[in-house]
Amino acid sequence: MKLDAILVLDFGGQYCNLIARRIREHKVYSEIVPCDITPEEIGELNKRMNVKGLILSGGPWSVYEKDAPKFDSRILKMNIPVLGLCYGHQLIAHFADGKVEPGTKREYGIANIVVDKPVGVLKGLSRREKVWMSHGDTVYELPGDYEVLAFTETCPIAAFRHKENPIYGLQWHPEVVHTENGMKMLSNFIFEVCRCQANWKPESLIDKAIHETREIVGDGKSIIGLSGGIDSSVATFLAAKALGERLLAIYVDHGFMRFGEAEFVERTFQKHGVNVVIIRAQERFLKRLNGVIDPEEKRKIIGSEFIRVFEEAAKKIGAEYLIQGTIYPDRIESGFRKHSDTIKTHHNVGGLPAKMEFKAIIEPLRDLYKDEVREVAKIMGLPSELVRRQPFPGPGLAVRIIGEVTQEKTMLVRKADKIVTDEIEKSGFGDRLWQYFAVLTETKSTGVKGDSRAYGYTVAVRIVESKEAMTAGFAKIPYEVLERISTRITNELPQVTRVVYDITHKPPATIEWE
Ligand code: XMP
Repeated sequence: MKLDAILVLDFGGQYCNLIARRIREHKVYSEIVPCDITPEEIGELNKRMNVKGLILSGGPWSVYEKDAPKFDSRILKMNIPVLGLCYGHQLIAHFADGKVEPGTKREYGIANIVVDKPVGVLKGLSRREKVWMSHGDTVYELPGDYEVLAFTETCPIAAFRHKENPIYGLQWHPEVVHTENGMKMLSNFIFEVCRCQANWKPESLIDKAIHETREIVGDGKSIIGLSGGIDSSVATFLAAKALGERLLAIYVDHGFMRFGEAEFVERTFQKHGVNVVIIRAQERFLKRLNGVIDPEEKRKIIGSEFIRVFEEAAKKIGAEYLIQGTIYPDRIESGFRKHSDTIKTHHNVGGLPAKMEFKAIIEPLRDLYKDEVREVAKIMGLPSELVRRQPFPGPGLAVRIIGEVTQEKTMLVRKADKIVTDEIEKSGFGDRLWQYFAVLTETKSTGVKGDSRAYGYTVAVRIVESKEAMTAGFAKIPYEVLERISTRITNELPQVTRVVYDITHKPPATIEWE
């Protein structure tokens, strides 16, 4: 049975995948496609789904920029409903020969809109609504075949629709939680305007991933990089379901793993009948990182060394494919899209060397957010100690040691991490938190231990709450718990004289320090 689907045209906006995800939350299938998709390509997609609507995402552009991405205007004539958000809204107005003025500065934050006509996408909304806006250009006028549905003090055309065709534009972001009735607006578009049926289930993701993996690998063999974090664990279970004995999970111990990690991974996966090997490669990683202090260089070195280790292991068993647990935020932050910016190179994405000896790399979780991965894990019946695991970056503790990585620093940060983890889990806060860990900073400071002066390392404790890691807040942990962590670290690690708590949200900081 073909599913009803909404396509999200990607103009490089930060929230592009969030739109797709919100649609899936309404149990309607959604896929992200390039912004310049043609009617012919949409026709091709229609062979495997019923394309019922198009959403033009936001993007960091002004319609007047020379290289600003555009869409194929023929898509407006396909009689498929179209909804433009932010940049998408301005672009539709621009194409329609409306008056779009470049802003002198970007307006950013909560805005109060007045809904003049509560119809279509705005059906059932109150006259006043709170929405999240972030835009440079503003639409000031539209031709007579369009009508204005909402405005704000500074934005005379904050929402519009075409009088005859199902074409809508919203200057704000309904996909962001700060837009109070954002879900209602999207549901209006999906069900009232596009007339979609809610027949998509998260289980379909599992079937899709298994089917896709079997299709690509055929009768061949594949390896998968298993780090023990939730993403690669779920990808491993999925791949094992697809390929059975033809899958080998490889856990590379690059020396920057958490305490007891290798043993945990080996035990858990063997128990569930997955082929798994542990490759101990600490020395070769440490050697390559010798003298390296730049975080991006560290990530790239670790990424490329990983691939070399995988290639060697794959050759031994004759595997031609590599499966990875990359998820959507890893890709977006690595700047994989044509129109977005690199924030940091996640080692399993941008850190890959240009030349690799695999026929293909398969990323079954590539479009999902972390909480969707957890949902898949639950549906698949994965053991709870895996479902509840904290995310752990591929480059491991190496990106939690600021500056040069050495054996001594790795040992210190691993022990400090164990203390943070133990104390948070004992305190009962663990389940509410996204991540809790220690960072070894480059700052040394004076302390007093016993009766003498000490000069030692500063450990930073990072504890955050988040829903999908795109944004995060530092957790307001009780002082007593922080005190126990601090006391234990300075008592048990004589090289550390100071412990600080990181009180920065994401943005502006990222969760990991490097
Ligand atoms: P940042 O530091 O970018 O992290 O705010 C967002 C989430 O991603 C995890 N992370 C990684 N995961 N490979 C991964 O598989 C990586 O290279 C990587 N870097 C960061 C991080 O722990 C957080 O949960």
